[in-house]
Amino acid sequence: MPHNFYESDKAVSEYLLFHYGSHSDLLFDQMGPKEALGFARRSGLLHEGQSIDRRRALDLGCAVGAASHALSESFIEVVGIDFSHALIQAANRISSGRKATIEVATEGDLTRRVKVSIPNNSQPGRITFTQGDAMNLNPKLGKFDFILMANLIDRLPNPKKCLQNIHSFTAENGVLAITSPYTWLEEYTPKSKWLGGYDQNGTPIKTVDQLEGILAPHFEKIDSQNLPFLIREHDRKNQYSIAHATLWRKL
Ligand SMILES: C[S@@+](CC[C@H](N)C(=O)[O-])C[C@H]1O[C@@H](n2cnc3c(N)ncnc32)[C@H](O)[C@@H]1O
Repeated sequence: MPHNFYESDKAVSEYLLFHYGSHSDLLFDQMGPKEALGFARRSGLLHEGQSIDRRRALDLGCAVGAASHALSESFIEVVGIDFSHALIQAANRISSGRKATIEVATEGDLTRRVKVSIPNNSQPGRITFTQGDAMNLNPKLGKFDFILMANLIDRLPNPKKCLQNIHSFTAENGVLAITSPYTWLEEYTPKSKWLGGYDQNGTPIKTVDQLEGILAPHFEKIDSQNLPFLIREHDRKNQYSIAHATLWRKL
């Protein structure tokens, strides 16, 4: 996978289908793990049950934005930020038109047309999608009551830098939700910056423990759960992963 994968047409098509596709367009002949569908929406609803203000939410690494749409049902203002210009452009396009027609791969170079749309309950007028870098956020963004980092940390060159600064964007008592399958790959993150998934003098280093250490000065862990997800590549190939979601309250 090239390092600029998230700028490619393939990424735009796969993510629009992943975020907005109907179950019948995602599952070939209705086969596959149904509990893994609707991941972006489920990640955007991780704030449910938490006692926080619902004024401002940040969706960091938002891709084409379906978690932001889920957040817009509850929060007055939602900011979706992604490093990929192509994904932000696609997020803006579907958000303003409410629907889009996309080409999805079926087999080799063959494609078919699929209609995708944002959920009826979504409030696109509350959402701003903008290109930006999770490791160098503009302080002018201000503070958020809820911050979502869905499957972002293991795609960053320096995840620790992002995590060490996120407290300054989190409101008092606000909640940070991090989901990740902890798929560390050197093409995205040099091994020296991996948060886990390696052996140190005979001790296995786990990402979840490192998260606790990095976030500890400013956050306490309040919940964790497993969130399966399915990314369709073509008719007969999907990636099935199980993200680990951890929730952290600002101290
Ligand atoms: C695995 S995808 C997850 C996307 C989305 N949150 C989801 O759950 O479907 C990782 C996303 O992080 C974005 N990303 C990578 N590096 C980033 C950075 N430095 N700042 C912001 N976003 C970044 C990619 O463009 C991509 O959209």
